[in-house]
Amino acid sequence: MSNIEQTLSIIKPDAVERNLDNEIKEMFTDKGFKIIKDKKIQITKAEAEQFYKVHETKPFYNDLCAYLSSGPIVVMILEKENAVLGNRELMGATKPEDAAEGTIRKKYGISIDKNSVHGSDSVENAKIEINFFFKD
Ligand code: TYD
Repeated sequence: MSNIEQTLSIIKPDAVERNLDNEIKEMFTDKGFKIIKDKKIQITKAEAEQFYKVHETKPFYNDLCAYLSSGPIVVMILEKENAVLGNRELMGATKPEDAAEGTIRKKYGISIDKNSVHGSDSVENAKIEINFFFKD
């Protein structure tokens, strides 16, 4: 039975700054993801704080929000069978040095914070995150 899902992906400032957005998009489409919508934007620190609210109590929260709002990002709605898990697999571990071969973070990630991509971690959060960036 098919289980088509949508998930939210963000190409983070470190990758956009290095002009890696097209290469990263190609990694998604090569794996069968459809890019339903995409846009290049820059968000404010306040918007980043709202987006990452689940991490509000973490010691890295302030730096994380400053970083995500520090330059242009590309936000995308990706669609595929089991897209949420598939995207997490293609992204790789949070810490690029722990990420598996063939993953985006292994290939492009610089450090635990500059790890090139974000992806929703559940179907429920995917809906919230898609709505956050693509309200229409
Ligand atoms: P998290 O949701 O744990 O990771 P993921 O992006 O793989 O879902 O953390 C969100 C982001 O916070 C992560 O991509 C990078 C940053 N971060 C740090 O800067 N330091 C840390 O110790 C952790 C765990 C995350």
